[in-house]
Amino acid sequence: MKQKLHLKAPENWINDPNGFVYYKGQYHMFYQHFPYEPRWGTMHWGHAISDDMVSWEHVGIALYPTKRFDQNGCFSGSAICENGKMYVYYTGIRYTEVDPEDIHVSVNEAYEPNQVLITSEDGFHFDVKNGKQVVIPTIEDSAIGHRVNTRDPKVWKGKDGYYIILGSSGADGKGKALIYQSENLTDWTYRNSVSKKDGYGRIWECPDYFETKGGGVLIFSAMGLDIEDHTGENQTLCMNASFDETSCELTLADTYQFIDYGMDLYAPQSNLDKDGKRTLFAWLRMPYAVDGKWNGMFCLPRLVEVKDEHIYFRLHPNVKNLFTKEIASPLQAKEGYCIKTSLAEAESLDVGGYRIWMEDGRVCADRTAVFPNLQDKFLICKTPKLQEGNNLEIYVDDNLIEIYANDGEYVLSNCVYGLGKEIKSTAAAGIKLYTIE
Ligand code: FRU
Repeated sequence: MKQKLHLKAPENWINDPNGFVYYKGQYHMFYQHFPYEPRWGTMHWGHAISDDMVSWEHVGIALYPTKRFDQNGCFSGSAICENGKMYVYYTGIRYTEVDPEDIHVSVNEAYEPNQVLITSEDGFHFDVKNGKQVVIPTIEDSAIGHRVNTRDPKVWKGKDGYYIILGSSGADGKGKALIYQSENLTDWTYRNSVSKKDGYGRIWECPDYFETKGGGVLIFSAMGLDIEDHTGENQTLCMNASFDETSCELTLADTYQFIDYGMDLYAPQSNLDKDGKRTLFAWLRMPYAVDGKWNGMFCLPRLVEVKDEHIYFRLHPNVKNLFTKEIASPLQAKEGYCIKTSLAEAESLDVGGYRIWMEDGRVCADRTAVFPNLQDKFLICKTPKLQEGNNLEIYVDDNLIEIYANDGEYVLSNCVYGLGKEIKSTAAAGIKLYTIE
């Protein structure tokens, strides 16, 4: 099955991007997948490939439970390519208590995670019967990490070896990340951990550390935040960070940003694109299945850049450069469309029922009219105050609107249902619409 632009569940369910890597001339994207129903359940790794991160082809299920240590799911993880091989790390899950009425979910947080390695010679074939090995067993020392809530290995290569960062939770009830080191990609040693003061969640999921020209960045998805007006939410944060390979100490800045201000994106994963640019995908949490058939999609690929300690998420040029054909109406769009405009204070747009306006220097959005039956708190979202102008590029697809302010100074993305085809604008600068050729 082929898709263009947004990677979506081929059917049923997807959540996190996993094992995103450029290998032997192609991008490989794996994803958390429940193949039987459009809801979360026993996790498999679905697999899609692409030449350019624009056109995707789903090529089936790569990983699925086969062993006692992953009998209830292959949770999130990542990939690295070395010695011509693809090394894939993920969290194998075994429930220690089972709901007799639904074997696809855990009960009472009763499960055991093991961090597992499986390799592939071509990125397509994985020996799921004989090729899985536990490389970091269930943690038994609560001074290191949580016995149950430790997962999502993200691997990278440093100057002195290989590193894995794992999401976890501390004995003090605060989210933390654990750092392991290896010389050979198979034998891993626990080296250090990092956490923040109270408020940054009780579990950290899907941590991702990487370096950019402008400095290092840590991203993690925190469960149970208590910062500003985000009490109780599960959201993805990013912050400036630096990593010392000798001590394996990760030092974090005091300030943070959300990766996206629409509050739907979660569990991102980054890697280098084929030109060495840091590229990130993330899961868009959708409250219900589209046409009762599929639930879950990814945002467009975003380049992560750091300048003067600000973390930018810019639309990847492979996608951005496609929207060159000017059109007069959304009815002429092919694979969605892009609106380019500049909104002064109090000016607004109505994109098929989705409202966007500028207030107090922030981009604000209200999806009440295109998010039926959902009265929760993410109907209205705002970015922080823009510092670099008020230029907007708004990418509109049937179920997702992504607003890039000032080329990624901030991004606000929202999933939507039943979007109309009419645009109204009060922008003095006017609007221009583009689609792909
Ligand atoms: C994040 C997450 C990960 C876990 C996966 C399970 O969305 O909860 O921590 O590995 O999803 O599907």
